[in-house]
Amino acid sequence: MNRPIGVFDSGIGGLTVVKELIRLLPNEKIVYFGDTARVPYGIKSKQTIVKFSLENILFLLKQDVKTIVVACNTASSAALPILKRHFKIPIIGVITPGIKEAIYATRNKRIGVIATKATINSHTYERQIKRINSSIKVFNQACPLLVPLVEEGWAHQKATYDIASFYLNPFKKSKIDTLILGCTHYPLLKSVFKQILGSRVRLIDSARQVAFQIKEVLTDEGLLNNKKVGVRHIFYVSDELQQFKKVAKIFLGQDIKNLRKVNSV
Ligand code: DGL
Repeated sequence: MNRPIGVFDSGIGGLTVVKELIRLLPNEKIVYFGDTARVPYGIKSKQTIVKFSLENILFLLKQDVKTIVVACNTASSAALPILKRHFKIPIIGVITPGIKEAIYATRNKRIGVIATKATINSHTYERQIKRINSSIKVFNQACPLLVPLVEEGWAHQKATYDIASFYLNPFKKSKIDTLILGCTHYPLLKSVFKQILGSRVRLIDSARQVAFQIKEVLTDEGLLNNKKVGVRHIFYVSDELQQFKKVAKIFLGQDIKNLRKVNSV
């Protein structure tokens, strides 16, 4: 089916999911919406995040999408069940795929989760992990300073290493063997996290798992596009284009084409 997949994020971070989607499903068209005018979501209340997410979905539905990916961990953790109740279209979040992989990966049943404040405060990761296996111990850490550092292109600066060490050092004491990267921006800091925690701790980057889940859903629903005809992704943002264009390359690994600004969603 030739209709596009809709993806939204609070801003630019959801492009980590888009990158995996393009890799796994090259025949699919993607319409992306990055809410750059209202980013960050990670410090906002649940009520506000739900409202923004509903608006973003309504915008994507106007683009005639066949499924919607909530590529933002904060929006997925605060709003996914509510969104699913409101719309008939398949809606896929980024929390469950990462959780499944982490539970599969852990040997000592000690899992760390790093994410925005809103995601950590929602306790979504912890609740869902415990629901699957109540004997697993979950250690949470909000890392609010990491998102702006990545967006500044500072992933490999010493300041970033120092701040990440401050957040991650307590995990050494809690002896986790698996760490869930519960935020769109953290895959770009993998090498920093590895340096701090060592190679013994497995880092779970859910973007690839999310792409697999989308493929599964599209297959089950008979919505896969089997022919590579006119695949032209479109990227919408709610604020100015230049900064997005510049940072997008870091996330997507390629220049972004077809970038448009929308005035209101
Ligand atoms: N996209 C958000 C997330 O994955 C990070 C940026 C924000 O705080 O909005 O949690």
